[in-house]
Amino acid sequence: MLRDTTINMKRTKVKEVLQTEPSGQEVLVKGWVRTKRGNKYVTFIAVNDGSTINNIQVVADMTVFSEESLKEVTTGASVSVVGTLVQSQGKGQTVEIQARTVEVLGTADPETYPLQKKGHSLEFLREIAHLRPRTNTFGAVLRVRHAMAFAVHQYFNQKGFFYIHTPIITASDAEGAGEMFRVTTLDPVNPPKTETGEVDFSEDFFGKSTNLTVSGQLEGEVTAMALSEIYTFGPTFRAENSNTSRHLAEFWMIEPEMAFYELEDNMELAEDFLKYLVRYALDNCMDDLQFLNDMYDKELLPRLNFVVENDFQRLTYTEAIEVLKTAKQKFEYKVDWGTDLQSEHERYLVEKHFKKPVILTNYPKDIKSFYMKLNEDGKTVRAMDVLFPGIGEIIGGSQREESYEKLVTRMREMGVPEKEMWWFLDTRRFGTVPHSGFGLGFERLLLFVTGMGNIRDVIPFPRFPKSAEF
Ligand code: 4AD
Ligand code: MG
Repeated sequence: MLRDTTINMKRTKVKEVLQTEPSGQEVLVKGWVRTKRGNKYVTFIAVNDGSTINNIQVVADMTVFSEESLKEVTTGASVSVVGTLVQSQGKGQTVEIQARTVEVLGTADPETYPLQKKGHSLEFLREIAHLRPRTNTFGAVLRVRHAMAFAVHQYFNQKGFFYIHTPIITASDAEGAGEMFRVTTLDPVNPPKTETGEVDFSEDFFGKSTNLTVSGQLEGEVTAMALSEIYTFGPTFRAENSNTSRHLAEFWMIEPEMAFYELEDNMELAEDFLKYLVRYALDNCMDDLQFLNDMYDKELLPRLNFVVENDFQRLTYTEAIEVLKTAKQKFEYKVDWGTDLQSEHERYLVEKHFKKPVILTNYPKDIKSFYMKLNEDGKTVRAMDVLFPGIGEIIGGSQREESYEKLVTRMREMGVPEKEMWWFLDTRRFGTVPHSGFGLGFERLLLFVTGMGNIRDVIPFPRFPKSAEF
């Protein structure tokens, strides 16, 4: 509660007010007007302050208030209301506020306020990303996002994992995919050149070419070789030009890394972690999830419950290829052993064939990153991808190659600059141990938990090709 010095009262948030037993007490509520309606005798003002999806109904007796005094109380305006908390006469709410004073803090011109009416399309709301948090939908998404971030930390803290802050500016390409945003202070028009005519990055701020990180994994591995079980949770950046509903150029990733874990342990942790997060949402975000369920996707709550209650299907990449080859469904992309799975293939496995989340393991080495542990067959690596309904890949991870020789061989084969990675290779030179880890895309998790269809709608300010307005 925040004391308002002008009237010497403490503000109560709407969420708390709605849970309070009315006993004639006065309350001070502040927030934004969602709707105003009424007649000659009474005006009803629905006020929301973001603490919950539910509004508090403010009732103004028009024998006490003048039309004029409530003229600026319009949708989108901010108000400060003092009144008596009473049992509600109407349907849909238990308590309401019988207003004594209604002060407008900031007006919102009905002629120009874009959220005058309900029911705007998500596409339209994306164009006013600075105002969309004021809608029920984005309020719900942002509260769930907060709850999931909190649950991530709670989960790992309970398990004795340590939160490690890995750098955002790095000189390495952790995934070896080359989809990086450069970080430089060199003059873009006239950068210093070497004798051979290339840009001379030794003149750059860090004395070398640097970029925004695509993953905190490599630094995570380094710290896991001392603290045993760690996780990172930070922003990651990928300059892949994929304009899809599941890709962002800036997204958040949770990356646990565990010494002494083999692939089996890694899978167990991933499944337990995902179930914990979904259960946390069901236990703590029901108002928001119920709204999203009713509004967008009637299958949302059943789907969340299903994931919590059922074991994930585990199978190898090779087995999955067999399933896909004998599938009756026609795919746009052909499947053959050695090719990467497209999202249509992943979704077929999850949604049509097994009808539950799937963990695929042991992928061909050529379609996975250099750091994954090579299997005895010499052809596959100890990778694991977790595939979810409606999403496809939600987690990517692996057991890591702990042998110095084998890792160097893989780096050479895949053109990973081994000289610059000397510090990473040191982990394999000094006290190397079997270890594993994975990365959970935070926004992909939120897509699943909220049932939203587009990843641009589960992050406040999405970054994607040709878009960084807000
Ligand atoms: O599979 P990825 O590329 O794996 C890694 O980066 C490993 N270093 C993780 C690890 O083992 N520590 O990415 C991990 C996850 C994906 O499964 C996906 O959920 C998400 O990150 N992801 C994206 N989410 C949104 N937009 C993008 N462009 C994404 N790229 C990956
Ligand atoms: Mg992946």
